[in-house]
Amino acid sequence: MLEIRGLRVVYLAGKRRMVAVRNVDLELSTGSAVALVGESGSGKSTIALSVMRLIRPPVGKIEAGRIEFAGEDLLTFSESRMRDVLHKEIGYVPQDPAAALDPLCTIGRHINETLSASVPSSERRTAIANLLESLGVKNARSRLGSYPHEFSGGMQQRVAIAIALAKHPKLLIADEPTTALDVTTQLGILTLIDRLRRENGISLLFVTHDFSIARLLCQQVVVLYAGEVMEKGPINDVMTNPRHPYTKALVGAILREPAPRSRLLAIPGQPPSPVDVRVGCPFAPRCPLADAKCAKENPPLENYGGVAAACWKVGAKATQ
Ligand SMILES: Nc1ncnc2c1ncn2[C@@H]1O[C@H](COP(=O)(O)OP(=O)(O)O)[C@@H](O)[C@H]1O
Ligand code: SF4
Ligand SMILES: [Mg+2]
Repeated sequence: MLEIRGLRVVYLAGKRRMVAVRNVDLELSTGSAVALVGESGSGKSTIALSVMRLIRPPVGKIEAGRIEFAGEDLLTFSESRMRDVLHKEIGYVPQDPAAALDPLCTIGRHINETLSASVPSSERRTAIANLLESLGVKNARSRLGSYPHEFSGGMQQRVAIAIALAKHPKLLIADEPTTALDVTTQLGILTLIDRLRRENGISLLFVTHDFSIARLLCQQVVVLYAGEVMEKGPINDVMTNPRHPYTKALVGAILREPAPRSRLLAIPGQPPSPVDVRVGCPFAPRCPLADAKCAKENPPLENYGGVAAACWKVGAKATQ
């Protein structure tokens, strides 16, 4: 369904270049769910936006790689074909629904625009109301004329999900869709996304900083640090037996503080600067196991019993 190979993305700020994502591979099979997990600034949103080809000059650039969607490289599509794919096949739920909704446009009109391609106009009002009701918006028919600010944050996010799902997408990209919401609303929305994904056979790319949320929704996880993949594999396996020291720290933080909204990061230190050429393991300055080799050579991603990890010490530990 979605296969990313060797993705490299840079942001361009005047003459400065900042490499936000480097050499990322990711696989998402049809009907399954993959979580992109990492601390803030690790490149999760950049990957999500790259799949929609929304990173472009002058802000940034996809510098290398392939993004295959249903067998074809999205990066080779014409602008009009890409617009068509975004209109019909990829749904997007952003972190901040208020920013995604036009404050001057009613809720009904927002969804109407997405449904217009697939539902005749005479049936659209009922279809919109039914869709919103199924997403937990009560008295939806009487609220179609309301504006986004008349809805709570949780209800706005349900509307954003309705817009994303109205087109019956093959792929749903949700970027921290519940981070801004209270815990009860958060669980309701996550359960909803999970149910709709399963019922409709949608593939999900789910961005979160929170392993416990990732586990609720996804079968696979890709752990990102400083724009690179540190570990990836089945999420239950990764969480019960994390191979990479960074993943261990993330999972350990969750276990110490299981509240769903808890911030993960209790790892001292800062990520490396996003320079062009990187020497050594990016996690070395913060890693308790780092040695001289780690500071000089960047470890490749290697398979350890069905889970891939980029760390010199994983294999060493297994053979000791
Ligand atoms: N528009 C932008 N211009 C310049 N740098 C950016 C921009 N957006 C993100 N970045 C930088 O790219 C890196 C990755 O950011 P992002 O993908 O947003 O991370 P995440 O979603 O994991 O928090 C960060 O260092 C961030 O500061
Ligand atoms: S390669 Fe070295 S620095 Fe990097 S995570 Fe492994 S032990 Fe730590
Ligand atoms: Mg982000």
